[in-house]
Amino acid sequence: MTVDISDTDIYPFVTVSGITENEALEFSKREIMLKAIYSEISSGTTLDEAFQNLRDLSDSSFNELVRPYITGNSSIKIVYDSFGSKTYEYSDWTSKIYHPMLSCFRDCHPVIDLKSPDTSFYVIEDRFSEEHPNNPFPHPPRFLICREVAVGPRKLLKQFDLSKRRYIGTTSMKAHLSFICANLGLVRPGSLVLDPYCGTMSIGLSCAAFGGTVIGGDLDIPCIRGKPERNIFHNFQDQHLPRPDLVIVDQTRSPFALRPIFDAIITDPPYGIREGCKTIGTKQTPTPQAESTAAPSDGMTFQPTVQHSLSSTLSELLNFASQTLVMGGRLVFWVPSTKSAPNTPPFHPSLTFISQATQPLNPRWSRKLITMEKVREHEDYFTNPGEDDPFADALNFREFYFDHQQKSGRELKKEAKRNKKLQKQRDISEKPGSSDEHS
Ligand SMILES: C[S@@+](CC[C@H](N)C(=O)[O-])C[C@H]1O[C@@H](n2cnc3c(N)ncnc32)[C@H](O)[C@@H]1O
Repeated sequence: MTVDISDTDIYPFVTVSGITENEALEFSKREIMLKAIYSEISSGTTLDEAFQNLRDLSDSSFNELVRPYITGNSSIKIVYDSFGSKTYEYSDWTSKIYHPMLSCFRDCHPVIDLKSPDTSFYVIEDRFSEEHPNNPFPHPPRFLICREVAVGPRKLLKQFDLSKRRYIGTTSMKAHLSFICANLGLVRPGSLVLDPYCGTMSIGLSCAAFGGTVIGGDLDIPCIRGKPERNIFHNFQDQHLPRPDLVIVDQTRSPFALRPIFDAIITDPPYGIREGCKTIGTKQTPTPQAESTAAPSDGMTFQPTVQHSLSSTLSELLNFASQTLVMGGRLVFWVPSTKSAPNTPPFHPSLTFISQATQPLNPRWSRKLITMEKVREHEDYFTNPGEDDPFADALNFREFYFDHQQKSGRELKKEAKRNKKLQKQRDISEKPGSSDEHS
């Protein structure tokens, strides 16, 4: 299969060749960002040219690309869709699209069924390039005549939307992001998946929808328990998915057996903004033996917790994944980042880096979705913060975030001006022949 992804960052089309229809159907069941997969029949820079090219198809191409779908009792629908502005209005539809399209079907007379056709033919107008003149891959507007092969699984987004869940929290992950995670983790029926920082189990819900058996762990007891009438189990039950296993864990001292059992570890570790990285302990005794405190309301025992650095959390996560993933198993996780952060991928000797995708959060901060795959037997690897630390940028994320949040726009402008002035002074003093050089 060949995929032309040169312009996918901004361009809505991806050209794929060498893929069978069955592969396309499989792909379309789980790629949440996919609208549809089409098989191109003809194209042109104008609608007339596209129809003419369809009429001019050789007999063998027509027999392969069009005839099987319009013969016998086959029913069809013709759809006009556009990316960028539309040239044709609804009133043009019959004369400009419907009749010319039917006239290209030669001796065949398919049944028209707008509700549930066997095949949908699309006339697609692509004005994306024209609408976004700054795009780096310009091309003139074009018209494509295609057959719809498969439709993406976007209905899942509605079905799993946060607004439809009985139980959500402040950091519950949106459905489209959870499904992207599950897809990157290659979750399929039979996969055993762990989310060690599961919160309200949004990622687990998407993994279960793809057929995975899911385990969730979290340090926050009230979050894991929810309320008798609204909790994680209800969210799974409402989607007719099997109950997940939930464990109350301090992942920094994980109770899971350190042997390869998981097919995927998919998680959204706490950044320290709304949910802090915590570990059991107190400021005086940051150890697992810290004295527990009793919550008088329901008699439950809560361990006191202290802040844990995000850098250590992430470094521990890589080692944990390297120990507990099966060979070929995937680790998919989110990590905060800033615009100025270097794009160096994380490193672990047992895990190979697969991909990273950035989700901008605001002009300064973003987060990255990183995917790694286990390719070698486990080897302990801990980084020295500040040296070869892949998460050096994440290390001070909390401080950096709150420091900037507290400063007003005017203060930030003043600071930028001051820094510019200082830089200028430094440049002058570093110039050969400057007064410093002589002193
Ligand atoms: C960003 S939230 C995860 C949100 C989750 N993806 C969801 O959709 O609800 C991070 C979670 O990590 C948990 N957490 C913090 N420190 C932890 C630790 N040491 N061990 C396990 N979980 C921890 C927090 O309680 C929080 O629920």
